[in-house]
Amino acid sequence: MGYPHPSHPREQVLLSKYFGDSGARTYAGWVDRGGYQGLRKALGMSREALIEEVKASGLRGRGGAGFPTGLKWSFMPKDDGKPHYLVCNADESEPGTFKDREIMRWTPHALIEGCALAAYAIAAERCYIYIRGEFTEPWSVMTEAVREAYANGVLGRNALGSGHRIDITLHRGAGAYICGEETAMMNSIEGKRGNPRIKPPFPAVAGLFGMPTTINNVETLAATPHIVLQGAAFYKSLCLGNPKSTGTKLISVCGHVQRPGNYEITMGTPMRELIYDMCGGMRPGRTLKAVIPGGSSVPIMTADEAETCITDYEGVIEKGSMLGSGGMIVMDDSADMVYQVWRLARFYAHESCAQCTQCREGTAWTTRILERILAGKGKEADFQLLLDLSEQMTGKTICVLSDSCAAPIVSGIQKFRGEFEAYMSGARRPALASAL
Ligand SMILES: Cc1cc2nc3c(=O)[nH]c(=O)nc-3n(C[C@H](O)[C@H](O)[C@H](O)COP(=O)(O)O)c2cc1C
Ligand code: SF4
Repeated sequence: MGYPHPSHPREQVLLSKYFGDSGARTYAGWVDRGGYQGLRKALGMSREALIEEVKASGLRGRGGAGFPTGLKWSFMPKDDGKPHYLVCNADESEPGTFKDREIMRWTPHALIEGCALAAYAIAAERCYIYIRGEFTEPWSVMTEAVREAYANGVLGRNALGSGHRIDITLHRGAGAYICGEETAMMNSIEGKRGNPRIKPPFPAVAGLFGMPTTINNVETLAATPHIVLQGAAFYKSLCLGNPKSTGTKLISVCGHVQRPGNYEITMGTPMRELIYDMCGGMRPGRTLKAVIPGGSSVPIMTADEAETCITDYEGVIEKGSMLGSGGMIVMDDSADMVYQVWRLARFYAHESCAQCTQCREGTAWTTRILERILAGKGKEADFQLLLDLSEQMTGKTICVLSDSCAAPIVSGIQKFRGEFEAYMSGARRPALASAL
């Protein structure tokens, strides 16, 4: 079991306050630390007031797309007489992202509290928490925490004595990245193959088992009790200037920094401060070359772009990328960008569910062309071929896995073309053997 680093003075610890504190894992420990007060307060509010509070806080989904959470909840139909469902997305398979597992490992009751609060807000009696198959420790910690939550009356027919029924079912995935996509996740819970569904219908209309459903990420849900307890204004005030990106964000930093780990920053923190102060900068003698700021599914940023970037949704977009899940992959001048782009393309080719031709063929062929370049057999025409394939893979498929593969390829060619040319000209020794 790995322990997290002690929090840096410039972090704003809200969700990560008890990371590393094993006492916070139990029901009694959580209650001692002020746990379940947010849920208790929420259950005393009307559903409308609760949704308005979350809307007013400015909270946006932490799973990748950054969709406003309160607005998403408000899409659920009212008094329709149908069962409603909440699905908590704990699949966390995005390369470079490792924050949700820490929430589950250290503060499982924070997630249960957030799930119960959201379930009440959208009038759902049942929440499914879909946990990534490989997460053995989070799975066992969550299993025990759910058992304790039932034993102490937090969950069940009469949640915290409110008269409302709230049940939580843990569902374990089998290790497919695509099951993190919300509609594939619903198929997987229903016992079907985890293929994404065409939208519309959107989940709020016809989701899990055909019923109105809301899907939220672990970090999103764990933030909601803080909003209710401390108020929307408090949460909204946690930003450094941009009112469209509020609150704190767990950034999983990996790669060539001196102190990788999860850092909970106030939205708007300069990326430079995160990399050089909080994470201790680059390894000795090395300089920053590139950052992939939002998990692997977003365009690559150059060192200049990263060093002048504000870390929030709009700040990263301004630099041509996306905040995504907040998994930040940092690379120094020793990184081989062609190899890194190939590794990502290979991942997407492996994880494509293969329903859409552009994705099935595109991810496979881009991987093989990149392999050819790495083998020293690339041709100038491969640039256009890769860009044409990427164009066909963007905005044309059932889900955005295909776009996610294209983003690092296109930005890699645009920003690090010289490294591709070095393989083509023979200036760089081949890194792979190629079948093509
Ligand atoms: C291929 C793919 C994989 C995804 N994986 C995850 C994931 O592991 N965890 C997650 O929360 N969202 C993931 N998402 C985003 C979800 O579809 C969904 O937008 C999110 O869970 C909504 O929660 P939020 O509004 O709280 O962010 C993925 C999306 C795609 C297209
Ligand atoms: S884009 Fe890829 S992963 Fe998404 S539905 Fe189509 S084939 Fe499946």
